[in-house]
Amino acid sequence: MSVLSRVASAVRRIGSCILGSLAALALAVVMTSCSEEKATQPTYVVAMEATFPPYEFYKGGEIVGIDVDILQEIARRKGVEFKLEDMAFDSIITAVQTGKVDLVVSGLTVTPDRKRMVDFTRPYSGARQVIIAPKGAPAYSKDDLARIRVGVQHGSSGDVYVTENICEPERFTNGALAVSAMNAGKLDAVVLDNAPAENHVAGSPELTIQPTALVEEEYAMAVRKGNTQLLNMLNAALNELEADGTLRAIIDRHMRENKPENAQVATTALGRLVDNFKTDFIKNDRWKYLAEGFLVTVEIAAAAALVGIALGFLIAVIRSTADLTGRLKVADFFCRLYLTVVRGTPVVVQLLIIYFVIFGAVDINKVLVAIVAFGLNSGAYVAEIIRSGIMSVDRGQIEAGRSLGLGYGTTMRSVVLPQALKNVLPALGNEFIVLLKETSICGYIALQDLTKGGDIIRSQTYDAFLPLVAVALIYLTMVVLLSHLLKKFELRLKKNER
Ligand code: ARG
Repeated sequence: MSVLSRVASAVRRIGSCILGSLAALALAVVMTSCSEEKATQPTYVVAMEATFPPYEFYKGGEIVGIDVDILQEIARRKGVEFKLEDMAFDSIITAVQTGKVDLVVSGLTVTPDRKRMVDFTRPYSGARQVIIAPKGAPAYSKDDLARIRVGVQHGSSGDVYVTENICEPERFTNGALAVSAMNAGKLDAVVLDNAPAENHVAGSPELTIQPTALVEEEYAMAVRKGNTQLLNMLNAALNELEADGTLRAIIDRHMRENKPENAQVATTALGRLVDNFKTDFIKNDRWKYLAEGFLVTVEIAAAAALVGIALGFLIAVIRSTADLTGRLKVADFFCRLYLTVVRGTPVVVQLLIIYFVIFGAVDINKVLVAIVAFGLNSGAYVAEIIRSGIMSVDRGQIEAGRSLGLGYGTTMRSVVLPQALKNVLPALGNEFIVLLKETSICGYIALQDLTKGGDIIRSQTYDAFLPLVAVALIYLTMVVLLSHLLKKFELRLKKNER
């Protein structure tokens, strides 16, 4: 067999392995999307950002609130089903525009800008943007606000109002986080919708809502432009709910119960810490957000690492074969293109593109999306790490192998690659550590990974300290364990060498 044909067959073997796994992945994708569509009643996917009490918020691990109750009532009356998707508020309009979800029900304010992007139902609730400030503060005018540090929820109508009329605010992923920043002395005021503001203030003894509201608003549901069928159904249902008083009853009941479950009582620092520990982790089984998030993080990181290794390995072999033998030029070109694109763009942007654009129209399991995104990303780095390992093996070794009568493929497999892998093990370990921590951006596509689990707790308890420390400790433990395993593996390889 000539050198070339051996290389080609080696590459083909690896290639078919990877193609096999990709095919399996694709099959899994198709199967998940099919199985989810097999409902008998029409099922609509609803986007919301669930840190917005009393409209949508987590209670005992479930999303509850005014919006959820209204949806339930509509589902019951119209014989449809709604599937809730908790996602970042600034992605919500894009999600409905791209067809990722069917509607938004998220305490969403009707604004002229949004009207250009989506179709709104009739309003179902009124609201206003209020100012949350420390108890002793003077009543702030707009001019005053322009001179102090103002926090808002990123992408909210409050954000737009402050930005256009007052000043450049500090933007937080949700109102609760802005309030906890104010509790920590990082802000002087927060501009927020009145109902969640009341809830947050009830949980923060030093804060109050100032008497004058900035602007009056109305909440409505939103669907993709032109989806009149869904729009008409929702409008008809909302009209019914209003006419028979159900709407009023739902809103009134939630407004009456609108307080957080934790009210601080302890006065000593230690007492507060113990109290916070109880509310952050014990109460309502909140530790489960971390435990479940941990599993999601491990699942995504481990599967993405496997995809990354397979892909990286294939690319490294193609690229170094092209370098060493001058063949496989076309494949090499595509590999380089892939490396440039993947390494030239931030992973969070890649994740969002894969979720909203590439898989925009399919209802695909988000864990799978994350595995694909992080696997594709990691593959680029693994490829360069392995390639550098291959290149670091002395060329004399290839010649030695060849002069023993081994072909290029066999020399690669049994002489070069084992040494290359051993040399790059520390760098590969590093890549896996980075990958594990990088998955913390999964919250962008509303996956509840470990970081997001901590965020949910923070948004419920207004305590930034303990949830963040707990999340950090869990990542740290995982990384220490991973490093330990890698070290053991390295030692084993060293022993085998002798
Ligand atoms: N009403 C504001 C808006 O539409 C804030 C809504 C925030 N909603 C939420 N579920 N986080 O921009």
